[in-house]
Amino acid sequence: MDNFIYSIPTTAYFGKGQISILGETLNAHGASKVLLAYGGGSIKTNGIYDAVIDQLAKAGITLIELSGIMPNPRVESVEEGIRLYLENGCDFILAVGGGSTLDACKAIAAGVMHDGPVTDLFVNESGLSDIAAAAPIATILTMSGTGSEMDMGAVITVGEDHKKMVLLHPLVNPRFSILDPEYTFTVPEIHSMAGVADILCHLMEQYFTPDVNTKVQDRMNEGVMMAVLEDAPKILADPKDYDARANIMWASSMALAGFQFMLGKPGFSFPLHGMGHELSSKYDMTHGVTLALLTPSWMRHTMKIAPQYLAIFARFARNVLDVREADDSKAAEEGVKRLEAFYSAIKMPANLREAGVREEDLDFMAEKAVERGNLGILTSIGKDEALQIMRDAF
Ligand code: NZQ
Ligand code: ZN
Repeated sequence: MDNFIYSIPTTAYFGKGQISILGETLNAHGASKVLLAYGGGSIKTNGIYDAVIDQLAKAGITLIELSGIMPNPRVESVEEGIRLYLENGCDFILAVGGGSTLDACKAIAAGVMHDGPVTDLFVNESGLSDIAAAAPIATILTMSGTGSEMDMGAVITVGEDHKKMVLLHPLVNPRFSILDPEYTFTVPEIHSMAGVADILCHLMEQYFTPDVNTKVQDRMNEGVMMAVLEDAPKILADPKDYDARANIMWASSMALAGFQFMLGKPGFSFPLHGMGHELSSKYDMTHGVTLALLTPSWMRHTMKIAPQYLAIFARFARNVLDVREADDSKAAEEGVKRLEAFYSAIKMPANLREAGVREEDLDFMAEKAVERGNLGILTSIGKDEALQIMRDAF
């Protein structure tokens, strides 16, 4: 196991009614004028907005609003937020929403302290952004999935080709996050399940790495994956199942908190995310859906060209998906089949074609996925490999 630093600088206030700490906690952080950011308006119809405003009023905090942050958030929203923050002399950022709103706010937090375009701060997925300071930020999570509520990342869509760029730095970790599972009761089914697919993928991207005897990280990871597989269908059956929503929310937060499941492992590469982002760029596809679409073919591709790692896929199948098969190759394949059945049960599209992808776009997307370098830890995915994985998923 390699040396590592483990730090999660975000305080989580988890559970029903935790909004009650918002005003006093903002006061404790010295906030007096808050940039309140949210998405397309769901928080106005489900009561979350009113609860936030009530807390800010009681705490004597004034606010400036940034609304309309869209899924796969655009850099233009970030630039508008930077302008609003600076022109109005804000001193704190409060993000209320899903990953898109949270990510936009993290980029705003870094952008207001940077003398130059915010795009200077975007990096390859693997490197840290060059950030010297960031405004303080807190989040109120309204949908589970990205882990943005407890991590140091943000993904922003830039330019005419809608490239998804990453900002990564501990300075943009939220100071605190309010995580109330009840706030996710109103998330539409497709987004709830796409969030589940996202959580699962974050766990798998950290799990499928060369085996360097990181037993604690891997056994914990398996436990979180099992909880996700068990409780996602309960949300489908009853969107107001508090305990299922709570388990999925905490899984979302734990999956990327301090990247804890890949501590001590060699390298950092989320190849499924690298390829999935291209589907979102081209088709504005929901993030978690892109990952569910690509994962099984990525697994089969890796098992085929790097059989030395079959044992890891077999272990995943046995420990997480309860496969009882002694032969590694058969166990691993059965694991992929069970995973496909799970994606089908949570209503993910069966393949890229069904998701509306055009075959003639695959080449372009494969090229874009690797334009800043090959992807992957178990294998090196260049354009040809990315294209093969996409074709198999088609
Ligand atoms: O905009 P509103 O009206 O709020 O509606 C949203 C949006 O339409 C809706 N929603 C959220 N909470 C709701 C709700 N509707 C009803 N009731 C609620 N309580 O859900 C829709 C999707 O929201 P969005 O924020 O886009 O979803 P998600 O949380 O999946 O975020 C996706 C973004 O996060 C990035 C993705 O690339 C994508 O851009 N990611 C960020 C990561 C990070 N920061 O670490 C890691 C991830 O891998 C991911 O890349
Ligand atoms: Zn993700």
